[in-house]
Amino acid sequence: METVMLKDALTVIRERKSVRNYTGEPVSKKDIEEILRAAMAAPAAVHMEPWKFIIVTDKLKLKSLADGLPFAKMLTNAGTGIVVCTVPEEAAMGTEEFAILDAVCASENILLAAEALGLGAVWTAVYPNKEMMDFVRKELNIPANVIPLNVIPVGHPADEEKAKDKYDAKNIHWEKW
Ligand SMILES: Cc1cc2nc3c(=O)[nH]c(=O)nc-3n(C[C@H](O)[C@H](O)[C@H](O)COP(=O)(O)O)c2cc1C
Repeated sequence: METVMLKDALTVIRERKSVRNYTGEPVSKKDIEEILRAAMAAPAAVHMEPWKFIIVTDKLKLKSLADGLPFAKMLTNAGTGIVVCTVPEEAAMGTEEFAILDAVCASENILLAAEALGLGAVWTAVYPNKEMMDFVRKELNIPANVIPLNVIPVGHPADEEKAKDKYDAKNIHWEKW
């Protein structure tokens, strides 16, 4: 069995990148549970946790999601797809804005946890495209009050990819130091 050396938090953050090519080898349930634990460790406004996670491993379902989502073709080769959803009524002030903000935090934790475990993942867009949201709702029997935010394929990376260096001092404004 392969042993993954765990990296420290800042290294994981720096080395996270979108991975779109996978070997096709299934991801273990233990790793998915670890990733979901990380997802639910995210901050959420007023300690309301409006997020829900749908775990898709069925090959035919992954293919039908890939067929209907224009930028998620890589789902067919990932062992797993995590659909991050959020429920406005369960969010702070009962609003969509807080529901989305909280689910975005959980999504980033998913991407970071995948990197930490030596897996590859990528955010593929659903929200705020209404057609894509309705398509995912229909495919996965998601009720109308639940917003599918994204679909995150998780798989074993096929290649050794490097993260982009996106640090840009121009984006920082030191108000006073
Ligand atoms: C809101 C959002 C939507 C995205 N949608 C897609 C998508 O549909 N398909 C895809 O391959 N990547 C998608 N990405 C990933 C971005 O393309 C990627 O994060 C960006 O190119 C930077 O590369 P990096 O993640 O490797 O740093 C999305 C990212 C975000 C935050």
